[in-house]
Amino acid sequence: MNITRIIHWLFVILISCFAYFDYGECVVPLIPIAVGGVASIASYMARCYFKECCTDEYIPANFSKLETALKTEVYGQHLAHQTVLNALKGHFRTTEPKKALVMSFHGLPGIGKNYVANFITDALYKKGAESQYVHFYKGRLNFPSDEKVEEYKEWIQKELLTHLRTCQRSLFIFDEVDKIPEGVLNALVPFLDYHPMIPGINPTGAIFIFLSNTGGTLIAQRLIKLWKDGKKREETELQDFENLLARGAFNEKGGFHKCETIEVSLIDYYIPFLPLEEVHVRACIIDAFRRREVEPSDAMIAEGLSHVTFGPDTPNIYSTAGCKRLDHKISLIIQRDQILQKLKDSN
Ligand SMILES: Nc1ncnc2c1ncn2[C@@H]1O[C@H](COP(=O)(O)OP(=O)(O)OP(=O)(O)O)[C@@H](O)[C@H]1O
Ligand SMILES: [Mg+2]
Repeated sequence: MNITRIIHWLFVILISCFAYFDYGECVVPLIPIAVGGVASIASYMARCYFKECCTDEYIPANFSKLETALKTEVYGQHLAHQTVLNALKGHFRTTEPKKALVMSFHGLPGIGKNYVANFITDALYKKGAESQYVHFYKGRLNFPSDEKVEEYKEWIQKELLTHLRTCQRSLFIFDEVDKIPEGVLNALVPFLDYHPMIPGINPTGAIFIFLSNTGGTLIAQRLIKLWKDGKKREETELQDFENLLARGAFNEKGGFHKCETIEVSLIDYYIPFLPLEEVHVRACIIDAFRRREVEPSDAMIAEGLSHVTFGPDTPNIYSTAGCKRLDHKISLIIQRDQILQKLKDSN
């Protein structure tokens, strides 16, 4: 509902009326309209005070919050940082976008794809992941059987229709896209297209994020190649990876394989997440200690790092599981140290 627009038109009608008729003739018929308007605005405000509404108040799109999170809490992902921020800013600034914003995050395990998606959710929606306008679907969890492609297509279309009817600024996150049976994602094409023809809804304000490991190895290989050619990690650009990803995503089995979404180029941004190096994993380890209010010594950090495997064989600089599952290991180190300390104190 655009209250400002309604008030604007009422004002225009009133002014035009004054040009031809006298005051009473113009104002009296408007009284019931005004009373009704005030009542509906009041009920709308009361409703949205207690319950989440699809308004700027509940979808504040706080980009400075997002920028701070990406800058201070996400390590080694300068391409994701810049691209995500610019893409979202552009999408929210346009009052009538031509199509839904579609971003596809690619990379090896544990390097921040869900982590960044969570920061996006928290910055866009006041209620973050709890918002009724944020919808999360996960590969094999929501689409477990290869035999049920048609059923899933129908189901996901109904989901999107329902959610977009409720709020045009909905966010749809599809995790583990590479594990979604081939063909299911074709059902999304009408929602992602330019000038979508779906009666009763306009999906162009929506945001779609796809997450997958597809292309992760290719990204690592390309990064090594760029590094050998003298390009530092921080100097790499989106274009260094973009074509590679579109081809990789399309050719590898699962999710986007033989998918019209790719064929008609409906994905606006392929975002490569770069494999993490020791310096990044070290920062994750320090964070994990600090989250538990422990300031780690060098020995403790080194112990945390000793659980991390690096690869590929040469140059052996990328953590094979990124920063994944570090939390658990750090927690064990802290618990063990606390037990040892207690034993020491009791002697
Ligand atoms: N680049 C990063 N900077 C800081 N912390 C990170 C980064 N990547 C991962 N982490 C930490 O590791 C955890 C796991 O990362 P995340 O779930 O985002 O991995 P992922 O890329 O989605 O992996 P997968 O492909 O296996 O799902 C995060 O919750 C976060 O604590
Ligand atoms: Mg993930």
